[in-house]
Amino acid sequence: MSLIGTDIDHAAAVLKAGGLVAIPTETVYGLAAVIRDDKAVASIFEAKKRPAFDPLIVHIGEFDWVEELCRDIPEAARTFMHKVWPGPVTLLLKKSERVSDLVTSGQPSVAVRMPGHPMSLELLRKLGEPVAAPSANPFGYVSPTSAEHVMDQLRNEVDYVLDGGEAGVGLESTIVSFLEEQPVVLRLGGMSLEALTALMGTEPVLRIATHSNPEAPGQLDKHYATRVPLVLTPNVEEEANLYPGMKLGLLSLNREYPGTDWHTVEVLSKKSDLNEAARNLFAAMRRLDQSGVQLIVAERFPEEGLGRAINDRLQRASVKSAK
Ligand code: TXA
Ligand code: MG
Repeated sequence: MSLIGTDIDHAAAVLKAGGLVAIPTETVYGLAAVIRDDKAVASIFEAKKRPAFDPLIVHIGEFDWVEELCRDIPEAARTFMHKVWPGPVTLLLKKSERVSDLVTSGQPSVAVRMPGHPMSLELLRKLGEPVAAPSANPFGYVSPTSAEHVMDQLRNEVDYVLDGGEAGVGLESTIVSFLEEQPVVLRLGGMSLEALTALMGTEPVLRIATHSNPEAPGQLDKHYATRVPLVLTPNVEEEANLYPGMKLGLLSLNREYPGTDWHTVEVLSKKSDLNEAARNLFAAMRRLDQSGVQLIVAERFPEEGLGRAINDRLQRASVKSAK
C-alpha cells in the first residue's frame, strides 16, 4: 500500500488501529488519530514536535457526537453549530469525561469541529468515532494546504496521507468559545467576522491573543512561520528599499510592484478576491521559503473579510511588522 492515495477505507482502517493519517479538510490538512487511544494521540504531538500544552481540535462526522464529547452545551451553541457545520468553524465547549486530558492539554474545555471536506466527512462517518487533528505541519511552521505539503515534511511520521486535493479555504478554522455568556472569537480563520456576525445576528466579542501566554494556547506570537524571515508592511516598496543588495521575495495581494528588483514574486489574487488570496496564501509562503530569497516582504492586507485572518497569520509569521 502506498503512503499516499485516495483510499478512504484504508485511512479508516489505519486510524482504527491507532495509526496516524493526514486528512484533507476544507481549511488545511490535519494530522489525525482516534481520541479513544492515548498512545495514538501522543504520537500526534511527537510527529509534530508539538508542546504538550497546546490542545488539539476534535473532528466529528455527525452532530450527535457532540453530546458525548461535551456537557452543558448552551442552546446558542447548538443553534450556531447547525448553521456553520460542516464548515471552517471550531466551537469551544465544556468537555465530558470521554475526552482525555491529553487531547485538551488538561483544559476543562474541548475544541470541536465538523469539517466540510467530503472525503474527511465520509472518512469520519465510516470510522464512526471522533479524531483529534491539528494542522499537519511541524510545530510553528506554515499549515499544509495540499497532500504534497504534508509529504514534504511529515512523510516519515505518518502512516497514510489521504489526498483530497487543494484545500478550498486555505486558512485554519475560526475558533469561537461558548464558555461564557457571550460567544468569543479566539482565533480568526476560515469564516470571516462579517459572515459570523450575519449568522449570529450580533457582532461576536473578539479576544485574539497577541502575546505568548494565550487563552487559545496555539496562538503564540511566533507561529505559521517560514524559515526565511518575513516582514509585514503597508508599503512594500519603501520596505524593500531598506535592504539594498538582498534577495527579496514579494508576497502581495494583487500587484507585482515592478519598480523594485524582486527575486521572487507571489501575487495572491490579481482580482483582489480575499477568498482566493486565502486559498493561495500558505502555498505561496512555502514557495517563497524555498525560492532562495533572504527576506520575504509581505504586504498588509485589507482588514476585511478573510483579509483579517491573513494579516493575523502574516503578523505571527513575521519577525518585524510596520503598522
Ligand atoms: O482548521 C483547523 O482548525 C485545522 C484543521 C485540521 O481542522 N486544525 C488546526 O489545528 O488548525 P491546530 O492544532 O493547528 O490549532 C488548534 C488550536 C490550538 O492551538 C488552540 O489555539 C486551539 O485550537 N484549541 C484547541 N483546544 C483548545 C482548548 N481546549 N482551549 C483553548 N484553545 C484550544
Ligand atoms: Mg497549527
